[in-house]
Amino acid sequence: MAKLYNVNTFKRAAKKRLPAPIYHYMAGGADDEIALRENISAFDHYHLMPKQLRDVSVINTKSKILGKEVAAPLILSPTGMSRLFHHDKEFAVAKAAEKAGLYYGLSTMASTSIEQISDVSAGPKMFQIYILRDRGLTTEFVERCKASKFDALCLTVDTAMAGNRERDIVHGLTIPPKFGLKSLLSFASCPYWSLNFLLNPRLRLENVIHRVDAIKDGNMGLMKYVNDQFDRSVTWDDVAWLASQWEGPLVIKGVQSKEDALLAKKAGATALMISNHGGRQLESAPAAVDCVRPIRDAVGSDLELIVDGGVRRGNHVAKALALGADACSIGRPYLYGLAANGQSGVEQVLNILISELKRTMTLMGCRDVSDLDETFLS
Ligand code: GLV
Repeated sequence: MAKLYNVNTFKRAAKKRLPAPIYHYMAGGADDEIALRENISAFDHYHLMPKQLRDVSVINTKSKILGKEVAAPLILSPTGMSRLFHHDKEFAVAKAAEKAGLYYGLSTMASTSIEQISDVSAGPKMFQIYILRDRGLTTEFVERCKASKFDALCLTVDTAMAGNRERDIVHGLTIPPKFGLKSLLSFASCPYWSLNFLLNPRLRLENVIHRVDAIKDGNMGLMKYVNDQFDRSVTWDDVAWLASQWEGPLVIKGVQSKEDALLAKKAGATALMISNHGGRQLESAPAAVDCVRPIRDAVGSDLELIVDGGVRRGNHVAKALALGADACSIGRPYLYGLAANGQSGVEQVLNILISELKRTMTLMGCRDVSDLDETFLS
């Protein structure tokens, strides 16, 4: 395998490992992918101002996020169906996160259940939830998270309907992947993935599977069930209801404006994931990192702010924190690691990002992540 030394090299390795429909499902965004690209490029517009000769012999990245001590202000965002990318699926990611001392986010659409994750990981965990048409399922998730000792709940609010992912049309993605004529070539050129896909337990949406009669129709029926469950009539009142059910750290994922940040705070949120869903939902939504300053100015110190989207380098984390965020979160970067090399690939990606952050802080003259502020920006 080629040398893997930053997130981009893992992206290239993942592209080699995965059949085209699967890779492009992960790497792609909505419409013309402007939001996808700008999430990353927006970080280039900020510059770090070093403070020299500040005794940087010891660097501290430890911080407290969503009520838990973590090794670095870096969260693994919830992403759907890790089984698509590697047969060790969410288990590999949750274990790598625990080993690195980082928060892990499990998706409603995961291929591993709340209970299965809590069995393998004692690390800090949050569960990503939707307010669904079937409110009974939403309350069931809350109860299961309490019983399985999840530490935080993360409500996604930017999915009133699915975004327009044109790469899925181009490459003929089906869930679960089908070995049809059209995709046969790309599967045949990825024997490692294809063999493991066929020889290991199949993809199932473990968190919702028990609820669905549609399961008779296989996973496609299940996907349809979940898509039908997205409730477009949800409002901030429903968020207040969810906060009262959960009573623990509640993150709202998908907020970008200061007005929504204030509504989230009023509804009982304790944190925001400032996010455009990795550029997969609303095309041309602003880059996540560009939303930090106005939101921080509006909410003061009351809400924890997590920048979700475009983080590919340790210096991106330093920039986000200097702008007023408390943490960053990553989705695709750890999936690249997972696809390239299972749990050890995820571990490598996390280690790379944390060591890049430490190097950046050392060169900036910043000993502690809690010291990062606007004085470090030029
Ligand atoms: C799921 O949330 C996705 O973006 O595919």
